[in-house]
Amino acid sequence: MTQAVRIKDLGRHEGQVVAVRGWVTHVRSKGKIAFVVLRDGSGIVQTVASLQDVGDETLARMDAATQESSAVVTGTVRADRRAPGGYELQLKSFEVTGDSPDYPIAPKEHGVEYLLDHRHLWLRHRGPWAILRVRDEVEKAIRDFMYDREFVLIDSPILTPAACEGTSTLFETDYFDEKAYLSQSGQLYLEPACMAFDKVYCFGPTFRAEKSKTRRHLTEFWMIEPEMAWATLDDAMALAEEMVSYIVARVLDRRAEELKVLERDTSKLESVVPPFPRLSYDEAAAILTRPENVKRAEEAGAPPFVPGSDLGAMDETILGEPFDRPVMIHRYPVEVKAFYMQPDPERPDRALCVDVIAPEGYGEIIGGSQRIHDPELLQARIAEHGLPESAFRWYLDARRYGTVPHAGFGMGIERVVGWITGTRHLRETIPYPRTIQRLYP
Ligand code: 4AD
Ligand code: MG
Repeated sequence: MTQAVRIKDLGRHEGQVVAVRGWVTHVRSKGKIAFVVLRDGSGIVQTVASLQDVGDETLARMDAATQESSAVVTGTVRADRRAPGGYELQLKSFEVTGDSPDYPIAPKEHGVEYLLDHRHLWLRHRGPWAILRVRDEVEKAIRDFMYDREFVLIDSPILTPAACEGTSTLFETDYFDEKAYLSQSGQLYLEPACMAFDKVYCFGPTFRAEKSKTRRHLTEFWMIEPEMAWATLDDAMALAEEMVSYIVARVLDRRAEELKVLERDTSKLESVVPPFPRLSYDEAAAILTRPENVKRAEEAGAPPFVPGSDLGAMDETILGEPFDRPVMIHRYPVEVKAFYMQPDPERPDRALCVDVIAPEGYGEIIGGSQRIHDPELLQARIAEHGLPESAFRWYLDARRYGTVPHAGFGMGIERVVGWITGTRHLRETIPYPRTIQRLYP
């Protein structure tokens, strides 16, 4: 048996005869020579066969192979500077494993909805390949970052009895004789856990019934959420800038080829190092109400910024623009943020919270805060927000028994992958996107 080699490793076998198993992307034949480009998930390679080496039957089989047929080939590895990957295979044999008649994605342009209807096949193509390999690197970088800093992974439940991020985006499901909700965030489960393990995180899918169609919202997305006991807002902000910088550096180092496929301007990512600029909400509001910025939002058809309200997508774009790295906006008005955020002791109408805004108009990638640690205040907030106290009894226990200041944040994986890869619409940053309009495939 000839040794099977992955395409990315061909360079280690120069001059040897190896087998490659892959899928056909193009076929070209010129009289007594046929060229087949093969892809195997690790890379692409051009193969060449001559009538003299393989005979007319094999040459005819190559000529007849259609796009995305699977094939096993054997041949000699030859260096070729012009070939993709730097190597070419001079074939000895070519066998089709599964043919592929009428493959629905032609090399011509399709609309994105058509491609998403065929997402299960579109994954085989160059753009999705590059984006999802960056996603893989981002996820591995996060796990390494957390593990190296001794954060303990606490997998939080997906079926939950209570809302974390507001009741308007809950997915409800029957749970025997009760109602359950798909988790919007693992945070509520991490807060008690940080009092058991000191530093914890969860990393899993989260669900929000986002009723608007925007390029920044999925109904199912993945979030990494660290939580630290004995920590303040400043500690959460320091961790956020360190983590984001680590991830970007890792992708630049290990996924350069993928970023090249995506034509990402990597000079825009090289400056992403701590410290990130910090703006208070009030400083941000002063910037957004400058006449030139009011005019910009108006011209873009964006809703005007109203002081005291949450920031919109256009506001985030304007605020992020002057900076070559993410900007951290802290201390939003208490009313526009979640019930569990600690009020600023110096200004109780402001929450000790932070949103991290990516540059180049990619918007919010992180939301975090210091949490209320006083049991009475937390109980009052739960009531003010109209949340059922019975569903939060266990959550209040973290404050009843040895409460401490604690803080953490959540970072959306798709938002980060979108920014790093230069992909404007989040639906391309997750293997099988879920949005208000899409549950298929
Ligand atoms: O700001 P959010 O809502 O914060 C929380 O969920 C906190 N409980 C996290 C915590 O402190 N542990 O969401 C956090 C991040 C956002 O900054 C964004 O990156 C992402 O989650 N996100 C979404 N990503 C894709 N689609 C959506 N619908 C998203 N909603 C939030
Ligand atoms: Mg947020």
